[in-house]
Amino acid sequence: MTTEHWWRSAVIYQIYPRSFADSNGDGIGDLRGIVEHLDYLHDGTPRSLGVDALWLSPFYPSPQADFGYDISDYQAVDPAYGTLADVEKLVEGAHQRGMRVIVDLVMNHTSDRHPWFLESRSSRSNPKRDWYVWADGRDGGPPNNWLSSFERCGPAWTRDETTGQFYLHSFTPQQPDLNLRNPQVRAAIREVWGFWLKQGVDGFRIDVAHRLFKDGQLRDNPEPLAAYRRYHRHPELRQYNLDQPESHELLRELRCFLDGHGPGLLLGEVPISDDSRLVEYFGADGMHTAFHIAFWEQPWDAAAFRGTVDRLSALARPDALPTYALATHDIPRTVSRYGLRQARVAAMMMFTLRGLPCVYYGEELGMADSPPERALDVDDRDGQRVPMQWEPTGTGFTTGTPWLPFGRDIGTANVLVQDAAPDSSLNLYRRLIRYRHASTALRFGDYGSLDSPAQTFVYRRRSPEEELLVALNFADRPIVLAIGEGPARLELSTDAARSAGPVSLRSVPLGALEGVLLRVG
Ligand code: GLC
Ligand code: CA
Repeated sequence: MTTEHWWRSAVIYQIYPRSFADSNGDGIGDLRGIVEHLDYLHDGTPRSLGVDALWLSPFYPSPQADFGYDISDYQAVDPAYGTLADVEKLVEGAHQRGMRVIVDLVMNHTSDRHPWFLESRSSRSNPKRDWYVWADGRDGGPPNNWLSSFERCGPAWTRDETTGQFYLHSFTPQQPDLNLRNPQVRAAIREVWGFWLKQGVDGFRIDVAHRLFKDGQLRDNPEPLAAYRRYHRHPELRQYNLDQPESHELLRELRCFLDGHGPGLLLGEVPISDDSRLVEYFGADGMHTAFHIAFWEQPWDAAAFRGTVDRLSALARPDALPTYALATHDIPRTVSRYGLRQARVAAMMMFTLRGLPCVYYGEELGMADSPPERALDVDDRDGQRVPMQWEPTGTGFTTGTPWLPFGRDIGTANVLVQDAAPDSSLNLYRRLIRYRHASTALRFGDYGSLDSPAQTFVYRRRSPEEELLVALNFADRPIVLAIGEGPARLELSTDAARSAGPVSLRSVPLGALEGVLLRVG
C-alpha cells in the first residue's frame, strides 16, 4: 500500500451507505453492512469485483434534508450509519484487501442545524455571523437573482426572521453556504481534513468543488439558471455564484495538505460542462482528478461520446486523468438512460478509456432506476438510490423494511443470480476490471480515437509493452469494420457468447450493440 501514484490505475467504486447493506434490520444501509461485504468488492481472487478504491458518500451526522450532504457535525458518524469505530474497521478491512477509502468532503455548506449556523443566525453581532454568507434584501426580495441548484427550491436565498437578513444556500434552505473567505472557517475546515486523514482515509471526493466561492460583490447572474441540468445547457453563461478563481487557491492548499500526509487522492465533483474550465480543476497542483461531467450527459450516440472524450483529452493538462462514471447518486442509472445491452457497451468504454473508471454500486448488475411512489428527495433522485440487490428477495440488503423499495428488476439484477451466470453483467464487469488490471496500455497507455463508420467508436490504447484497439458498435445492427492491416486477437467482447481468438484488422465483425477489445499483433 505504498505506491506513490496508486490512484492513476485505480478503479473506484462508489458506495451510497444508506443503500448498500443494512446490518441491523432498520432498513437503512450502514457501515457494518459495508464491512460485511468487502470480500464482494475485492477478495484478491477473480471471483470478486476487484475494485481498488471505495468512495463513500456522506455518513456524518445529518438531519438528512439532502440525505447526508447536509452535515451537522463534520467529525462524527450519524448513529443510523454506525460509529467511528466502524469507520476504523471499514478502513482496516479495506486496506487489508488492498483497497483505499476516500470519503466525501462537503465544504460548500453545512446543515442549518450545525452549531456554527445556529450561532451565526442568532444575531448580527455573533462572532460566527460572518462564517456564512448574509446579506440585506433588495426591494423587499432576495439580495440578487441567484437560484438554488435544485429547481424546486427557487431562489438561493432565504430570509431569516431573527435578524431580517438573507442567507445564501446553493442547494436547499437547510444547507447554508459557508463563507470560505473567512480565515476562521478555513481553519475549521482544515481541522476536518486532518481529522479524517487521522482516521486512515486515503483521500476525498470534493463535493461541488466549483461552488466553494462566489462573487464577493454578489452581482446578479447574466441569466439566472437553476439546477445542474439547466445550467449545463448554457455553459457559455458565466455565473457569478460559481467557478470563481479563489476555489483553485483553496483546492491547491488542500492538495498540499494531503500530499504532506502521504499518497492520497482528491477526486473533484465539478459540474461544469465547459471542458476548458473543467480542466483547470485537475492535474498539476490541482485536484488529482475530476469527473468528466459531459461524459454522462451524452445521448446514446457514438460521435457524441467520441467528441466529448477527444475534446477533454485535448484540453486536459499533460498527465492529467479525468474520472469516467456512468451513473452516480445524482445521475440516473445507465440501463435506464440507454438500455440493457447499451449498458454493457458503455461499461467496456468506461473501463478502457484513459482515465479512472468509477462504478456506482449496482451498476455492475445493470440495476435500473426505480422511483418510489412518494418522492423523498428534493431533486427526484430516489430512483437511482434504491438499495443494492444482493439476491432476489431483498433480504440480502435488510431483514426489515428497506428505506426505499427495491426495483422491479430485482429478480434478475441481483448478485446471487448474476454470480452464477457467466454472461451476466456482473461477470462482464469482473472480466473488464481484471483485464484492465493486467494491461499496461489500459492503465498507463496513451489514447487516440480513429475515424470509423457512423455509430461506431474506435480507439487505440498503447503502452511500450502492448497495443490494444477498442471497437464499440452503438447501433442495433451488425457491422464489419476495417480498422487496419495485420493480425489481431479478440480478447474480450460484451457478448459473452463470442469467444476469444484471432481476427484480421481488415474485417472485424461487430454484432448489434457489441463492444470488443482487440490486441494488435
Ligand atoms: C453534490 C452531491 C449531491 C448534493 C449536492 C449538495 O452535487 O453529489 O448529492 O445534493 O452536492 O451537497
Ligand atoms: Ca442499518
